[in-house]
Amino acid sequence: LPTLVVLISGSGSNLQAFIKAIETGRLKARIAAVISNRAEAYGLRRAADAGIPTDIVSHRLFDNRENFDQVLQDKIDAFQPDLVVLAGFMRILTPNFVRHYEGRMLNIHPSLLPLYKGIHTHRRVLEDGGNEHGVSVHFVSPELDGGPVIIQAKVPVLPSDSESSLAERIQEQEHVIYPQVVKWFVEGRLKLVNNQATLDGNALTRPIQH
Ligand code: GAR
Repeated sequence: LPTLVVLISGSGSNLQAFIKAIETGRLKARIAAVISNRAEAYGLRRAADAGIPTDIVSHRLFDNRENFDQVLQDKIDAFQPDLVVLAGFMRILTPNFVRHYEGRMLNIHPSLLPLYKGIHTHRRVLEDGGNEHGVSVHFVSPELDGGPVIIQAKVPVLPSDSESSLAERIQEQEHVIYPQVVKWFVEGRLKLVNNQATLDGNALTRPIQH
């Protein structure tokens, strides 16, 4: 089976969506390990409950990103994954690390990229009074949240929204589109070719709209 390593920092609801997709037979893959940079991440519990090996690499134990990323890379590579899945992994990655996994590392970001790169996306959308928000799944490139986007899902921003209500609406979409993208990848349908995402050999010049 195609092998995944999933990196998390928090709740792990996207991880749970992968576990479910695998358990129901929709996603034919194996999660070899879940690695977190935070010992308190609830997703570690979700992994353990599903019988998936876990590991923790605390960024606080390193004095620079290079050393952290090197240890993380060694831990990941021990599992020889076909794909590295960033699922709420809240660390900026060094160019060497990103290049090492070029074309085989995905990220989910809660905005309609290229809008709202970085953190606190829901808060910034609300502050700006936008009436539309969303989520993107992309190949990871050295530019933060800047890699080729594969798919996006849009959600409305309602006058009554708070950060948390907006996050909830976004996450509902995440749990649909992220397993779908991983499925395409492990089926060999989704590839990075000349720095462009391609699905079934067709360049995705614009992200797929879910
Ligand atoms: C998700 O909403 C994801 O889009 C976001 O973190 C959340 C993790 O949720 N990712 C980023 O902000 C990446 N910069 P989860 O731990 O429940 O999957």
